[in-house]
Amino acid sequence: MKNLLVTGGAGFIGANFTQFMLNTYSDVTVTVFDKLTYAGNLENLASVSDDLRYQFYQGDICDAEAVDKAMRQFNIDAIVNFAAETHVDRSLMEPGSFIQTDVYGTFVLLEAAKNFGVERYHQISTDEVYGEVMTGRSTENDNLEPRSPYSASKAGGDLLCLSYFTSFDLPVTITRGSNNIGPYQYPEKVVPLFVTNAIDNKALPIYGDGSQMRDYQHVQDHCAGIDMVLRKGQVGEIYNLGTGEETTNLTMAQSILALLGKPESLLQPVTDRPGHDRRYAIDVSKAGALEWENRYDFAAAIDATVKWYVDNEDWWRKIKSGAAYKEYYAKNYSRR
Ligand code: NAD
Ligand code: DAU
Repeated sequence: MKNLLVTGGAGFIGANFTQFMLNTYSDVTVTVFDKLTYAGNLENLASVSDDLRYQFYQGDICDAEAVDKAMRQFNIDAIVNFAAETHVDRSLMEPGSFIQTDVYGTFVLLEAAKNFGVERYHQISTDEVYGEVMTGRSTENDNLEPRSPYSASKAGGDLLCLSYFTSFDLPVTITRGSNNIGPYQYPEKVVPLFVTNAIDNKALPIYGDGSQMRDYQHVQDHCAGIDMVLRKGQVGEIYNLGTGEETTNLTMAQSILALLGKPESLLQPVTDRPGHDRRYAIDVSKAGALEWENRYDFAAAIDATVKWYVDNEDWWRKIKSGAAYKEYYAKNYSRR
């Protein structure tokens, strides 16, 4: 596994993973294969753009010809698939692209992995495939009960991956991550949205009563966990990656306001997300047994994240001032 194809590598987690791998290993090359949708941004990869072990290929994972061309050109021996439509609210408005990329796109990559005989196909999945979990913690053997078009399409991708392991002996691994936070997260996801709104003294729209539980993991810890599964995970296996720490949306929002010295009057309850999953909670002991642990707890992760957005205003102001962002914001929030 020396020549990695990192699909979706211009997005939030994929860009952090690309940096992580190039900074950690001197003998890997990374080809980022990305369509550059609204969420893809080459500025996320600026710190590695001069690295001779890195190259960028613009393409759609649903386009088998483009995928095959990149596989051949860069002598790929492992695929790590981050490429997806990822925002639950958008999946409620326009589900078609989620089914296309997250299910059909996964199929195209699996076919390429099979045809080129890669050493590993790794799928980046999500704790949302287990659905809302009101008690206990989801283990990797639990039933999949996704409740949004986003989580249903991710679950479809996972099942396809497992079918390629069973039917074709493809060396597949899957990780299911919890809510990531950190540098380069597109500011429509709740944490960067709340931080950047608060910096500008704008309201923080809290869906419903704000008591929903999420497990916020620093993206660096997620990347280290994915790397650990690539090195030590068993093929055909699924590994949950998260912190096990639960935080309500209200507590998360209050922490952001406190770190920025902003008043709680900025909290604004708005109409809830339809089908809003109240709680995700994963059991991470299987990954922990492979000798991986989180370096950040919630307090440290949110502190580092707030600092990054304070220090990198140029990055997010460019996005938030664009017409596409403003159009999405109006569409999602004006009806609330
Ligand atoms: P993101 O939305 O920030 O980035 C997605 C990237 O995929 C973008 O660069 C986009 O251009 C690219 N992309 C989208 N469709 C594509 C296509 N058809 N072909 C090629 N590239 C395409 O996403 P993220 O938050 O970094 O999430 C990455 C992966 O991790 C996703 O698979 C997501 O389901 C999973 N995940 C995310 C989280 C989270 O908290 N963000 C948690 C667990 C799992
Ligand atoms: O759990 C992992 C998942 O986490 C990933 O698979 C997804 O790709 C990622 O987007 C994230 O999904 P969520 O739906 O949990 O994230 P989001 O940032 O959209 O919302 C987090 C919580 O905050 C959720 O309970 C909804 C709430 N929320 C969100 C927004 C955008 C608000 O209260 N107000 C908001 O404006």
